[in-house]
Parts: sequence; C-alpha cells; structure tokens
Amino acid sequence: MTRRYHIGFGPEDIDGIDTAILCGDPDRASRVARDHLALEAELSTNRGLNAYIGRTPGGRRVVSATSGMGAPSTSIVVNELAQVGIRHVVRVGTTGSIQPHVRSGSVVISRAALCRQGAAEDIAPTEYPAAASPFWTLALTQAARALGVDWHVGLTASVDTFYEGQERTETSFNPTLIPSRRGLIEAYKALRVLNFEMESGTLFKLASVYGLGVGCVCAVIAARDEAESVALDVKARAERDAIRVAVAAIDGIDPEWLDERHRW
Ligand code: URA
Repeated sequence: MTRRYHIGFGPEDIDGIDTAILCGDPDRASRVARDHLALEAELSTNRGLNAYIGRTPGGRRVVSATSGMGAPSTSIVVNELAQVGIRHVVRVGTTGSIQPHVRSGSVVISRAALCRQGAAEDIAPTEYPAAASPFWTLALTQAARALGVDWHVGLTASVDTFYEGQERTETSFNPTLIPSRRGLIEAYKALRVLNFEMESGTLFKLASVYGLGVGCVCAVIAARDEAESVALDVKARAERDAIRVAVAAIDGIDPEWLDERHRW
C-alpha cells in the first residue's frame, strides 16, 4: 500500500517534502496552496481532506493539508502524514479568545496546550505534556512580529467540543451544561489560558511521541469574554494573517532548528 487510506496520497507523491501546513478547514488548506504558495499539485480531496503541494515565496516545497475538525480526525491525519515522510507540522487554525487583551482579528501562537481531549488518551498518558516545539514557536513569533500582525503567544485550551466544552449555552441547542463545564471560562482565564480551540493539544502530544516538529498559529475569530458568536467581519483577514505568519515562519526558521536531534 502506498496511498494512505484517509489522506489519499503516499510517500511517492510528495517527493521527500518534510513539512506540512495543517488546517482544520479543507477550504483553508486550498486557500493556503492557491493564494499563499505557488501551487504545484493537488494531492487528494479524499474525504474532504484536501491536500496540495506548493512552494513558499522563499522556495520551500510544502504540503498544505487538512486535519478536519477536532482531535480524532487530526490524530488520523497526522499519523498518516508521518507515515508518508512529514516531519514538521505547522497548524493554522481558528480560535476563540478568553482574555480581554486578545482581541478578535489577532493571532495566537500556542506554546503549549491544556489538553482536554479523548483522542490524546490513546496516544500518551493524560499527564504527558502537550507542548509545541520551542523552535517553531519562536519562528512563528518572529514571523508575526516582522509582518506587523497583532500577535500573542501563550497557553491554549484544546477541547473536544465547540459548544458544551467551550461553555456555550446561548448559541447551542443545549442550554444546560453539566456542572464541570460551568464557569470554565472564568477558571481558565484565571489560569492565564489565552484561548479555546480543538486540535492543538492532541497534535502536540502526537508530535512529541512521533518525533515531529510542531507549531500552531490560530486566527482569533471570537471574543468569548464578550460573546459566544463568531466575528465574521474579521474572520477572513485574521485567517489570512495566520496563514501569512505560518508561511513566513517556514521561510524564516533557522534550518539548524529543524534537525532531528531537536525534536525530543
Ligand atoms: N474555534 C473554536 O474552537 N472556538 C471558537 O470560539 C472559534 C474557533
């Protein structure tokens, strides 16, 4: 078997490329490849896990791939990306802020995650750290600073659900939260967590277990201290900024930092 079952491509299709930009949304993976990279090939659209090969402005060939929503899908995709030769994953996602200084329209670079995700339990013990690579975190931060976008770096709460798990009641079908999910935003705020999203915790654990380099930048599209809803007016620009940060980080990272000995 060469083509992997879910992602729909194999090692021979990516010709030694070792870095992937990973988006939850297949349309975002397509926009990365078409609007921010020089598109070279469409690899697959199997199961909506759109994947492409493109070249960064700095000349690095990368895969732009789709994780799908949430940790279970992310775990499958990252496992298969590693099987075909990917050794670095830069997630470009969206997120809801829970701190008043992290506004909609900015980007959050996650240095580690509070991982409250069931899929991660299949990968490593609960207490295993969910941490990004320091090198990718620094490269993303340097890129964000150089591009002049509004950026933050810090801790992310990575959870399994968009509604109950992120303390949504007004925009949810289910207005009643179980006791352990009430007061979550206040509790995490006090723990100096910046934001909620749904993939980075499991992604960080997978990357450490598999020996991959990993970074995560997310566009802030909701300000959860103010509202439950998504700020659609800033979404496109914030997403574009997060993608620009990821691409610039890939071009800017010191090649020395990509060495296998730094992936422990
Ligand atoms: N993604 C999330 O997980 N939560 C939000 O509020 C926005 C995007």
